[in-house]
Amino acid sequence: MKALVLSGGMGTRLRPLTYSTPKQLIPVAGKAVLEHVIDNILAAGITEIGMVVGGQGDKIREVIGDGGRFGARITYIPQAQPLGLAHCVKISRDFLGDDDFLMYLGDNVLPEGVADIAGSFAAHRPAAQLVVQKVADPRAFGVAEVDADFTVTALAEKPDVPRSNLALIGVYFFTPAIHTAVDAIRPSARGELEITDAVQWLVANGAPVKASEYLGFWADTGNVDAVLECNRRLLDELPPQQLGTVDAASRVDDSVVLAAGCQVVNSRIEGPAYIGPGSVVEDSHIGRYTAIGADCSVRHTLIEDSIVQDGSALSDLPGLSGSLIGRTASVSATRRHRLIVGDDSRVEVAT
Ligand code: TTP
Repeated sequence: MKALVLSGGMGTRLRPLTYSTPKQLIPVAGKAVLEHVIDNILAAGITEIGMVVGGQGDKIREVIGDGGRFGARITYIPQAQPLGLAHCVKISRDFLGDDDFLMYLGDNVLPEGVADIAGSFAAHRPAAQLVVQKVADPRAFGVAEVDADFTVTALAEKPDVPRSNLALIGVYFFTPAIHTAVDAIRPSARGELEITDAVQWLVANGAPVKASEYLGFWADTGNVDAVLECNRRLLDELPPQQLGTVDAASRVDDSVVLAAGCQVVNSRIEGPAYIGPGSVVEDSHIGRYTAIGADCSVRHTLIEDSIVQDGSALSDLPGLSGSLIGRTASVSATRRHRLIVGDDSRVEVAT
């Protein structure tokens, strides 16, 4: 079985961060979302991975490489425009050949993994097997209607009146039967080739389609709040390891991860939290659920429940919370607010 990871898209909901970094590379608990995805695929026993990438594919290639460091083999498949999830399958036909495959949205995180569901798919090989979860409001999702044994009887994309509470959560298993379906469908009203339409075509043509319920925490890291929630959940599970240096004036909770080469000076760090390699935290208070990337400096600052990406500098900030800071950014304090704000930014100022 192969895997197809979808890492193109526009990422409009995460602008302005996504102007310079594809959302799949945003770190949660110290590691890019896409690295969490690849870990999950490997845990399901799959090492042959096709990576669909869009306009910022070079950046993904730079960070993820050929897969060698994960023990995987990654083939990059450029998508000129984000024309839909089924379009991704269409352009990956050569890579996929006649193999069964797992399709994984590159911005989705399922920390409990999908190895069990992969096993059940391989044993029974329905034309499609969809990973679903019960959600309170299914109107923003692809929704599956199922019978008593979880055979899918109908699908709807973002229905106004959902007929079930089972949402599709970004992982799908397919036999090559999906290619006939993808070739048969037409673009939707929003101009995309929808994977729900392709799977609905299979259902309508009598092919067996199953759903499997995933019960663990799941995140679609498409917006800031979801990224921060995912960061909190993954930090809770991160095994503590303290490789950095901590001076005698600092106090660091046991549940904190200090990567090799980081320095903590005269500071308090509450866990769970992650401080990346080469970063310096000085005269600061790092509150719970904060992940600081590599080579950052945090000085005279209080920060909690936030992500700071590689190479950024924070200084003299008395209280940052729920923040998502990009790479090589600089945030500091002055007596009056002085803001240089890029397009589509969101700034909230304490009064
Ligand atoms: P979405 O989050 O639905 O799309 P998006 O990236 O365009 O986000 P936004 O609404 O904020 O603009 O996509 C889910 C995943 O699939 C994500 O990892 C991007 C990827 N994708 C592709 O690779 N190609 C596509 O044509 C589409 C639509 C999505």
